[in-house]
Amino acid sequence: MKKIGLFFGYTGGNTEDVAHIIAKNFDENDIDVLDLTKVSLLKLDEYKQYIFGVSTVGADSWKDASTKNHWDNLFMLLDKIDLKGKKAAIFGLGNQVLYPDHFCEDMGLLYEKLVERGVKIIGHWPGDKYEFTDSRAFVKNQFIGLPIDQDNYPEDTEELVKEWTDLLKTKFK
Ligand SMILES: Cc1cc2nc3c(=O)[nH]c(=O)nc-3n(C[C@H](O)[C@H](O)[C@H](O)COP(=O)(O)O)c2cc1C
Repeated sequence: MKKIGLFFGYTGGNTEDVAHIIAKNFDENDIDVLDLTKVSLLKLDEYKQYIFGVSTVGADSWKDASTKNHWDNLFMLLDKIDLKGKKAAIFGLGNQVLYPDHFCEDMGLLYEKLVERGVKIIGHWPGDKYEFTDSRAFVKNQFIGLPIDQDNYPEDTEELVKEWTDLLKTKFK
């Protein structure tokens, strides 16, 4: 298998924790775990297949219209490298009880950007395991990646990750 770059985004801790749970499901030689907010262009370009993880935390971080706007930084990097034909899977942290109308919403932002840049998205996931009403990450009746709710259902995470990574292994080359 070509090496996977697993990049976790801005995080209060949960996204990073889940990134490491995901990595444990792969052979350690097949995956690198990296902090997306500190990554260089060169490093991001090094991989042909990716897993990206982002939490949805609203205006307090990623969408903050300040100089520390993580989305702007990330999108600028993604615009600078040739991503056409590369593969990516996305996981997202959210809270379906407090934010049922925007559950794991920001996975959708990243998805839209990656699709625009020619990336092939793998690892779509059914919505029936979650109680939510709407999400930008729910497209054509499925999530565009794996939603994880560590706030309410942390006991489900290991099993969800196992099932999802089993699916990814059939899609990554
Ligand atoms: C200020 C704030 C806003 C949030 N907004 C959302 C939201 O819109 N949708 C959602 O699904 N979860 C939302 N959450 C829940 C977080 O995504 C969740 O707690 C997640 O596990 C945080 O991951 P992190 O520790 O990696 O940042 C919000 C949390 C905070 C603190």
